[in-house]
Amino acid sequence: MGLPDAAVQEARERVRAAIRNSGFEFPLRRVTVNLAPAERRKEGTGFELAIALGILRASGQLHADVTALCLGELSLDGALRPVRGTMPRVRHAALRGVRQALVADSNAGEAAACGVEAFGFASLRGVVDHVEGRARVAPAAVPARASAPRPAAALEHIAGQETPKRALEIAAAGAHNVLFVGPPGTGKTMLARAFESILPPLDDAEAIAASAVHSVAGLTDPNHPVLTARPFRAPHHTASHLSLVGGGSPPRPGEVSLAHNGALFLDEIAEFSRNVLDTLREPLEERSITISRAGGAATYPARFILIAAMNPCPCGFWGDPDRDCTCLPEQVERYRGRLSGPLLDRIDLRVHVPRVPFEHLRDDGRERSVDVRERVVAARERMRLRLAGTSRRVNADLTVAEVKRFCALDGETERLLAEAVGARRLSARGYHRVLRVARTAADLSASDNVRAEDVALALLLRADP
Ligand SMILES: Nc1ncnc2c1ncn2[C@@H]1O[C@H](COP(=O)(O)OP(=O)(O)OP(=O)(O)O)[C@@H](O)[C@H]1O
Ligand SMILES: [Mg+2]
Repeated sequence: MGLPDAAVQEARERVRAAIRNSGFEFPLRRVTVNLAPAERRKEGTGFELAIALGILRASGQLHADVTALCLGELSLDGALRPVRGTMPRVRHAALRGVRQALVADSNAGEAAACGVEAFGFASLRGVVDHVEGRARVAPAAVPARASAPRPAAALEHIAGQETPKRALEIAAAGAHNVLFVGPPGTGKTMLARAFESILPPLDDAEAIAASAVHSVAGLTDPNHPVLTARPFRAPHHTASHLSLVGGGSPPRPGEVSLAHNGALFLDEIAEFSRNVLDTLREPLEERSITISRAGGAATYPARFILIAAMNPCPCGFWGDPDRDCTCLPEQVERYRGRLSGPLLDRIDLRVHVPRVPFEHLRDDGRERSVDVRERVVAARERMRLRLAGTSRRVNADLTVAEVKRFCALDGETERLLAEAVGARRLSARGYHRVLRVARTAADLSASDNVRAEDVALALLLRADP
């Protein structure tokens, strides 16, 4: 009882066969297995190990109490198979005081990473022998966090583009979203790829939370179950709604959640379908995504920094000083219209990426990624201290009250901002977003106050696309 019909049927067959093929007897009496609470929909095959152990215990074939989270699918021959989503389940159990987990061999590393004593097994028989003390298995080692892989691109390999680079630095520090607009071949994709190289390192809690999403998606590497670097996801513009935001049955997280605690890069954002883009609004606002479906809803975390890139028009040369744009005005209009106002409103940093003159193309960038990253880390630390005691850690998440409190301006600067708000007809949301970005610019130069130059930079980095 308590499982959807089809799954009950399958579990029944597998548990019965696995018990018999492990050298035990399946009771001839009627067996009732109750998975409580009944009103909660249960999914997946992870309950089978626990069901089998329960039957063995109730029928007097298992002679010891099991006080551990038992998780795994059984195969007909009695082998224990891994299940996806092990990490969040173990984590959840650990928070409720469970101290041990019995799982399939290849899930043992991720279970051990969640703060319980984890044991991995190849078969139901192996679990029973362990529990009864006949053949004890050693607890799985907590997986070492391998050193983070080197990011594919670095700022020092990109010539010029100082303003877009500055935008990336601010984005990495304050977790603001970025849009790059420019003609083809000016380095937009290159810049976005280099973003990874200036993101601050993951702390332990962030690493587990991000890895848990990968576990649910079945993307965990058993040898390295805990992510070592912030995720950087770059779905193609042909990506479906399902793959971007998640869903299906059983539900799986999409790209927005796989990017949790990292970055989501949407290259050629105007080529994504309009309704796919509109669904980004919820995760950008809520930092999570809820997928409602028959039998309940699944909520996945989705706290990511959005990096988007696009050409200004279909041919790419609209507004270019050296090349003629061949698009019709209405084509240009339609192209930009793909990015709806509400979505654009959630992108704090909008930056033109112009062509770098040919003679400068071989220059090195002015600064190395490692140095920029150091400033980013220091700025984040300032934010963390300022926001201590709240659930927020970065400037992009400052509440309106916090903006008032932490982004106080002197009279002169206030006037500068008021003028710009009037001239550009910024919404109230836009006004607060400028202040949050200015706060981040100040943090990057270790300034306690938001200065005129910080506000000026925030306004400069909010060009109309
Ligand atoms: N600022 C730069 N410094 C060094 N190389 C550059 C720069 N800009 C462009 N390039 C060169 O041009 C190539 C194309 O750059 P990239 O793919 O980033 O352009 P893009 O702006 O994304 O173009 P598109 O609009 O067509 O997608 C790079 O692989 C690199 O070789
Ligand atoms: Mg590109």
